[in-house]
Amino acid sequence: MIDIYSNQPTNLCIRFILGESEEDLLKLKTGDEGGVLTLSMGPLGALCKNRLRRVGGKACKVAGEFSAKRVRLDLTALRGTDPEGVLALLSGVMLANNRACSYKRDQKESPQAAFFLEGIEDAVAAALPKEAVLCESVLFARELVNAPANYLTPESMAVRIAQEANKYGVECQTLDKSQLEALGMGALLAVGESATHEPKLIVLRYKGGPLPEAPLALVGKGVTCDTGGYCLKSRASLRAMFGDMAGAAAVAGTVFALARNQVSVNVVAVIPAVENRISPDSFLPGDIISSMSGRSIAVENTDAEGRLLLADGITYAIQKENAGSIVDIATLTGAVVTMFGFTTAGAMSNHDGFYSRLNDAAEKSGEQYWRLPTFPEFRKMIDSPIADLCNMSSDGCGTITAGMFIREFAEEKPWIHLDIAGTSWVDAPKWEYQVKGATGAGVTTLYELCCSMGKEAL
Ligand code: BES
Ligand code: ZN
Ligand code: ZN
Repeated sequence: MIDIYSNQPTNLCIRFILGESEEDLLKLKTGDEGGVLTLSMGPLGALCKNRLRRVGGKACKVAGEFSAKRVRLDLTALRGTDPEGVLALLSGVMLANNRACSYKRDQKESPQAAFFLEGIEDAVAAALPKEAVLCESVLFARELVNAPANYLTPESMAVRIAQEANKYGVECQTLDKSQLEALGMGALLAVGESATHEPKLIVLRYKGGPLPEAPLALVGKGVTCDTGGYCLKSRASLRAMFGDMAGAAAVAGTVFALARNQVSVNVVAVIPAVENRISPDSFLPGDIISSMSGRSIAVENTDAEGRLLLADGITYAIQKENAGSIVDIATLTGAVVTMFGFTTAGAMSNHDGFYSRLNDAAEKSGEQYWRLPTFPEFRKMIDSPIADLCNMSSDGCGTITAGMFIREFAEEKPWIHLDIAGTSWVDAPKWEYQVKGATGAGVTTLYELCCSMGKEAL
């Protein structure tokens, strides 16, 4: 909770100060008055949004270390600087002020602190509610990703998302297994149809822009548990796979932020939600499956399931929701973690103009994406001698070939692919505004991208 200071009693004051040199950044000192700490933002010339977001995260964690429940943040030193920077600092506070849900018998009282702002300018105060909505949407995405697989199934995820959609007046529809069969979504069904928790397709429609405008489709991978299927994962990799629906969480969080902030844009979120389990009827390596697009797919590996769901999700977005452009987002490959670690997500695109919008959006959000190539040689790696495509290459390039597979289904529409397998979760936070667990990756960048699409068509 963040509010403007109006003489309420507080038990700690953190005063943000400018430093002399780079080394001062994030340095904490006891202030001249009792109950006041000073936190250095580094030199004025080096202030930037990313740095200020980190400073905000640090302030929140300091408050936690002092067990302060009511904290005054003195931002006077930032008067006259860019309001965007101050908002970034405050978003850092809000994002760090979050703990994963506890399942303990004896629940302690909420550890969250309340913050009161001092010295902020009117422009910041006016823009704060929208920034808070965006942060809450990141926290919503984190909540979904943190939930274990026995709590969050395709069905309960659909219920949770519908509940939130209801609150904000977003149209939400959940298609069940028989409807997916009628649509011919053979790729999605191949992965999920034999699990006890049946597959769902969750669709969120936000119409904030001029009506005839074709919506931007956000397609998010919603695998609530990825065992790998018959290509069973190792014990160690299985452990994290309740979070294999971070793409779904990102697109849902984005749409709720857009709706609550009344952004002028038309967006449809499409979430194929399944469990990738082993059961007597599960699909097998070597199977040839169908897809909604009509293409046949040779299954080389049942653990490469995300691209199968996304393929049908994208075809659905084009055929049934009239998507004009498409972004898919997914915890798709272990290879992207090998490549970029936990700070940077992989990206691909078939459209330079669209991709430069994503770059600008990421510049604003502070998230890091890096574009990978789509050379024709990579496309050959997913050819199959007997089907239209195969779902895995045996020649390496795991992240790229996964993206190339998905690109086939975008039918030449402007398309961006985001692989957040490395960035959706941190055991050890990489920046001060992260906490252990889900990061809510994608929400802020997708939100900025949607804002940009609403302002000007491609
Ligand atoms: N959900 C995984 C990818 C993943 C790995 C997410 C690590 C988060 C952390 C995905 O479904 C998967 O298993 N991909 C395989 C593909 C391979 C079989 C072609 C992988 O990356 O090993
Ligand atoms: Zn998998
Ligand atoms: Zn997966």
